[in-house]
Amino acid sequence: MRPLLLFSLLLSLTQTSYTTASASPPSSSSSFTEVSSKLLWSTLLSTFEVHEPIQIPLVDAAISAYTHFIPKSNPNSDAILGDQFYLAQVSPQGTNKVFQQDPTFTQLKETMAEVFSYTLQQFFNVQPTKQQLDGLFCWATVGGGPNPESQTFHPPHTHKNSVLSAVYYASIPTPSAPITFQDPRGSWTSQIHAHQPQNNTIVVFPSWLEHYIGVTPSSPQYRISYSCNLPGSHHTTTDLNIEL
Ligand SMILES: *[C@@H]1O[C@H](CO)[C@@H](O)[C@H](O)[C@H]1NC(C)=O
Repeated sequence: MRPLLLFSLLLSLTQTSYTTASASPPSSSSSFTEVSSKLLWSTLLSTFEVHEPIQIPLVDAAISAYTHFIPKSNPNSDAILGDQFYLAQVSPQGTNKVFQQDPTFTQLKETMAEVFSYTLQQFFNVQPTKQQLDGLFCWATVGGGPNPESQTFHPPHTHKNSVLSAVYYASIPTPSAPITFQDPRGSWTSQIHAHQPQNNTIVVFPSWLEHYIGVTPSSPQYRISYSCNLPGSHHTTTDLNIEL
């Protein structure tokens, strides 16, 4: 589905609630006056399809970086290997040491900056600052692949010191585990949503939203994604504040 269609859908949903809520306002003779009503705990999840031709170069870049990295590491488990690959990419300056020189990686960051700006403005009525956009940080995650011992799993976590987070899916083998979101403001059973990623799409969510990736078994293809954080405070995105 095209992003615009998704957004019109979401907007029409908000508008529907608006209409419903104001359909029968209390008459002036009523014994009460409505001061305000809010949808508390709404949680945004947006999906975008990418138009730039970045998918194949990003698959190649991730596999090349990962296969160069593996011999240098001494992992006890895939989860530790994943953490080590992440740490190899982080520099104290917040720039990605591994993909710094890659033009497609730069293009991914530019697309992410646009998607983050759009999402912040559209749903939270906030403009990202230049400082936030300059601090946008992305890294690659590679899992699964031909090694029969290899499988991906990421236990539940949030992204600290960030406003919005996003994942670009460069290559998702079939079958592949979904990314599952759990709103920490509700119970585990009622506030859970599994998103099945598609190739060449971006999913955007508030950084405080806890998520995990279930086990993806080894397969001929790697599971390749790039995650990005927009720095800032969790508070900016804790409540959509939709006025009914
Ligand atoms: C995604 O692309 C990979 C090739 O990079 C392909 O093997 C896989 O089947 C695709 N996944 C889906 C769900 O289309």
